[in-house]
Amino acid sequence: MNILLLGNGGREHALAWKISQSPRCDKLYIAPGNAGTALHGQNVKLHINDHHTVGEFAKQHDIHMVVVGPEEALVHGIADHFHREPDLNGILFVGPRAAGARLEGSKAFAKAFMQRHSIPTASYRSFSINTLEQGKAYLQSLPAPYVLKADGLAAGKGVIICESLDEAISTLEEMLESQMFGEASATVVVEEFLKGTELSVFVVTDGTSYKILPSAKDYKRIGEEDTGPNTGGMGAFSPVPFANEAFMKKVENRIIKPTIGGLAKEGIPFCGFIFFGLIEVGGEPYVIEYNVRLGDPETQAILPRIQSDLIELFEAAAKGTLDRQNLTITNKNAATIVLVSGGYPGNYEKGYPITKIDQVKGSLVFYAGVSTEQDALVTSGGRVLAVTTLADNASEALEVSYKNAHLINFKGKYYRRDIGKDILQ
Ligand code: AMP
Ligand code: GLY
Repeated sequence: MNILLLGNGGREHALAWKISQSPRCDKLYIAPGNAGTALHGQNVKLHINDHHTVGEFAKQHDIHMVVVGPEEALVHGIADHFHREPDLNGILFVGPRAAGARLEGSKAFAKAFMQRHSIPTASYRSFSINTLEQGKAYLQSLPAPYVLKADGLAAGKGVIICESLDEAISTLEEMLESQMFGEASATVVVEEFLKGTELSVFVVTDGTSYKILPSAKDYKRIGEEDTGPNTGGMGAFSPVPFANEAFMKKVENRIIKPTIGGLAKEGIPFCGFIFFGLIEVGGEPYVIEYNVRLGDPETQAILPRIQSDLIELFEAAAKGTLDRQNLTITNKNAATIVLVSGGYPGNYEKGYPITKIDQVKGSLVFYAGVSTEQDALVTSGGRVLAVTTLADNASEALEVSYKNAHLINFKGKYYRRDIGKDILQ
């Protein structure tokens, strides 16, 4: 079949790499793609938030399946567009409609959903400009630190953790009164701070059945020992040792089943991914957030561990036959190190030549912010590359990834040297 994959990051390079291995894949298009996806299919210049144009492309190119990487187009209803249009609704669409994408698109919706279905999460309340005073009073009732979340999509920057009450109150004012995140912070969720260890759990679902994909740990801060500002993710490791069978049973029974059952009960169809951002507190799992897509860079660590065919899995999700689908995952360990431009997540320069990727041995290299200029690879984003190694044990996976991360070169290259250190302990 002909497949259209939407997105342009490292996650999409990993998806394109895996999709293109399927014997079921005839032609793969990636919109807009990057220099890495171009190695596995044909990049096409489409604005993926322009649903009509994407639909026209799909019709003209006899697309049989659409797979969506990032959340924004989903939250804005690209799946609804495909399901609604008679000429498009025969296309297998992997990604939820707007109603389901609210799990990520509205934090207030997600929290209320969890409450309705008794899914463990931090206690919370949501506030708007009309209830600012109640919001301040609620903050006063909580112990420090304080967690404030813009309700809507804010490019991963909408969560602010404040150490002091004064800072929390002024941040709430800025979010609600000064529209710090525009419309996205017209509603703000204030919630209890949970202290624990985070992990990312992914499922693919058809709205009734689900398959649990490998779990992964993401390293979000720019600095070693989890210091400095948050980034999109500086590395990933899969599997997560503390996510053992007993813990994953709790996750499945208390979180995954009630989430999918809750969607069904509320009449919300859902075909695609659910990314459970979890935190383990005293051995118990809690939901920090839902996303309706795969994680980046977690995808670069989990897809290499999936041995079965990805297109068959996606087809079963879109056709509602996931319960009959098989998914095989290797026990091997995957270690992903992200190489970023110097200065990221703040300002950074672009356009530096990337060298020695051709000398990499034993690792997969997924491209994120990489472009081609006169046939040479140059940096074009904050997160530039993700180096993944699959090995029998954690230390070997990390060692080989680090060797290759060291070898690849571009001006200003930075990576954390402590990815997976906690896994080895
Ligand atoms: P998000 O953008 O929703 O992924 O949140 C960013 C980060 O904020 C999460 O990865 C957590 O590290 C942190 N965070 C969010 N909510 C909480 C919470 N209730 N307690 C502690 N940390 C949190
Ligand atoms: N790595 C976290 C995310 O994709 O949101």
